[in-house]
Amino acid sequence: MKSIVFATSNEHKIYEVQSKFDCDNVDIKIIPVTQPFEPEENGTNFLENAYIKAFEAAKIMGVPAFADDSGLCVDALGGLPGIHSARYAPTRDEKITKLLNALKDFPQEQERKAHFSCAISLVTPEGEELFSTESQCNGYIIKELHGTNGFGYDPVFYVKEYNKTFAELDIDKKNRISHRALALNNFIKFIKNNKS
Ligand code: IMP
Repeated sequence: MKSIVFATSNEHKIYEVQSKFDCDNVDIKIIPVTQPFEPEENGTNFLENAYIKAFEAAKIMGVPAFADDSGLCVDALGGLPGIHSARYAPTRDEKITKLLNALKDFPQEQERKAHFSCAISLVTPEGEELFSTESQCNGYIIKELHGTNGFGYDPVFYVKEYNKTFAELDIDKKNRISHRALALNNFIKFIKNNKS
């Protein structure tokens, strides 16, 4: 089986991406970066940050690496937390509390529209970007937490397709509609067309 370096230390992302590869019969095993990995994500958008992480991992590992940069963008908050989603507050619970507080003056469903965005970039150790893509998944932010699956903002991100939050979906369902799944569909097409 072939392998590919995934520039992340987020075990939930590794699980989602490996599950998607397995489900789509992509015979590739994901390898996390084997050294402490904390690149400075100082890009101005998801694609730039995905490139920064992938390049850093590729330099460390000496082979091409791909990265996912993702986040939650809330319309009423002007797109925040956006690229700052991971750093919006110290813990998962504090992030969600801060988000729900920020939306307390927006009680109606149509005022709480949001989307997750996911950018994927595949970069060589020399810095050449071999592939990049970005996808979104639309939903809205509900007022209480529902579900225990997934990670991050999943318990408050509600999707109409299933009338559930992401945290109420099993991995197969999340992997049909999520921002990461849609970006991975494009990445998987690229991988299948460039088998070497
Ligand atoms: P990154 O590692 O800089 O891409 O951080 C992305 C952050 O966005 C994560 O730490 C989560 O807080 C949030 N995020 C991204 N994708 C998801 C998802 O699928 N579900 C819930 N939160 C997500």
